[in-house]
Amino acid sequence: MLTTTTVRPAATADLPAVAAIFAHYVETSVVTFEETPPPVADWALKLAGLRDRGLPFLVADAGDTIAGYAYAAQWRPKPAYRHTAENTVYLSPGHVGRGLGRTLMTALLDACAAAGVRQLVAVVVDEGDDAEAGRTSAGPRPDPGRDDPGRDRSAESSPTQNSPTPSAGSTARANPSLALHRSLGFTEAGRLAAVGYKHGRWLDTVLLQRTLGCSRANSPDLARRKRPPHPSQASRDVFLL
Ligand SMILES: CC(C)(COP(=O)(O)OP(=O)(O)OC[C@H]1O[C@@H](n2cnc3c(N)ncnc32)[C@H](O)[C@@H]1OP(=O)(O)O)[C@@H](O)C(=O)NCCC(=O)NCCS
Repeated sequence: MLTTTTVRPAATADLPAVAAIFAHYVETSVVTFEETPPPVADWALKLAGLRDRGLPFLVADAGDTIAGYAYAAQWRPKPAYRHTAENTVYLSPGHVGRGLGRTLMTALLDACAAAGVRQLVAVVVDEGDDAEAGRTSAGPRPDPGRDDPGRDRSAESSPTQNSPTPSAGSTARANPSLALHRSLGFTEAGRLAAVGYKHGRWLDTVLLQRTLGCSRANSPDLARRKRPPHPSQASRDVFLL
């Protein structure tokens, strides 16, 4: 049970269980926009890639089973994003709602800070009642399989009018992932309306952000700059620091 669950770095032997957890949500839910479960080989590539970059991939080891996993990958590939990561957390269906998500995410936040991540971004799918009501009231649903030139696109292009952002409380109650991220200090950075279509419905994503480590004023390369500067660099580094 939860009392014996430990959080540790993922190993290759964990990946079939990780793949099975994710496959469940791919096939039965809209919490991921993936529609085909990735094979274990893809997970091996992901684990290797994260290890190469020094980014964490953690599992919750319940002894006889892997109860969940969490990892952080670089948010976007361009190099200046190297201090910003996107986090992912999934529990097996039998382990949700008992605080394990919080335990895994707390460990992931610590591991990200230790790895030099400065901003952590979460992209959470939201099918909350409030957003749904906003789109429904704007007219018929768009059909993702057809580009109908006659259809009213206002529902998609004016999210602030047609898909009002629910209050933090109302969405959090309906969405455990939003509740989890907010309770860990993530703040909402925006909502992308109707950017996904899965299992017959349009879905929003909510972007959340958490700052790790020190403030925006400090360079992430501060530690490197603390090495004794080359004499010709000394005066410039005073200003950089
Ligand atoms: C999202 C997930 C990781 C949360 O982990 P969890 O162990 O179930 O959640 P916890 O018990 O740690 O609770 C976290 C918060 O969510 C709330 N919560 C938990 N289950 C909930 C539910 N069914 N409905 C609404 N809120 C819920 C808790 O009250 C808690 O809020 P608090 O910290 O303000 O008290 C887990 O439910 C899960 O794996 N879900 C399926 C996959 C998924 O959606 N992953 C996230 C992709 S972004």
